[in-house]
Amino acid sequence: MDYIIRRMQDRDIPQALEIDREAFPTQWPHPTYASFKQELRNRLACYIVVAKPRAIKAVKQNANDKGFWQRLLHLFDHDRFFGEEILPPPKEYIVGIAGFWVMVDEAHITTLAIRNTHRRHGIGEQLLIEIIEMAAQFNVNVVTLEVRVSNKQAQALYQKYWFQKGGVRRAYYTDNGEDAVLMTTDSLPSNTFQSHFQQLKQSHMHRWGELYVNELSKVA
Ligand SMILES: CC(C)(COP(=O)(O)OP(=O)(O)OC[C@H]1O[C@@H](n2cnc3c(N)ncnc32)[C@H](O)[C@@H]1OP(=O)(O)O)[C@@H](O)C(=O)NCCC(=O)NCCS
Repeated sequence: MDYIIRRMQDRDIPQALEIDREAFPTQWPHPTYASFKQELRNRLACYIVVAKPRAIKAVKQNANDKGFWQRLLHLFDHDRFFGEEILPPPKEYIVGIAGFWVMVDEAHITTLAIRNTHRRHGIGEQLLIEIIEMAAQFNVNVVTLEVRVSNKQAQALYQKYWFQKGGVRRAYYTDNGEDAVLMTTDSLPSNTFQSHFQQLKQSHMHRWGELYVNELSKVA
């Protein structure tokens, strides 16, 4: 297991801000700690992360390196008798974030971003799969989003999942006046979408799936 997928928590916000700035450097205004925190409390919003547990090795100090009192305590140390060090929970390195809002019968993707160093490893696709599955649990009909006209990589990902281009919002991005393309899935419950989605999920699973532990609880 390399990655955990779970809900975003307050403690993830500093890393989420880092990822957001790296992925959308020219966006203005940038989200802030406070705005992310507010989003996490929004009942109609859902944010998830892909996290990599950091390997923290127990460095057992040699008893001789310790001072007198530490050496004395070490004589009665639980671990001298029972083996394992008791470690604090490992800190996690967040490598990707995603979020959506539920708006009546649609789920609108507000963000999807992967750290530069972790792109092209199927993580963005994994997050998109999770969004679609969670959206279906909220009983929405479609998933929608806006994407920059120039952002061909993201468009390729969405097109793989049958998002169709549905219109343009002129000068949507205030940093450079770029247009946004609106993209929308087919009806999520439809047989055609479901069979395509399940096939993609299977092939993603064969290619990358062993890497993930999914800790998302069912949402609806
Ligand atoms: C778009 C983004 C989320 C993709 O994440 P990723 O983890 O690198 O993508 P994956 O490895 O899961 O790729 C899945 C699919 O996306 C498409 N894709 C991703 N990167 C691509 C690239 N550089 N060129 C072409 N297609 C690309 C492909 O269709 C790919 O499927 P394939 O592997 O079968 O070819 C990532 O590039 C990113 O964070 N970009 C900056 C933020 C952003 O633009 N977010 C979208 C805002 S709407």
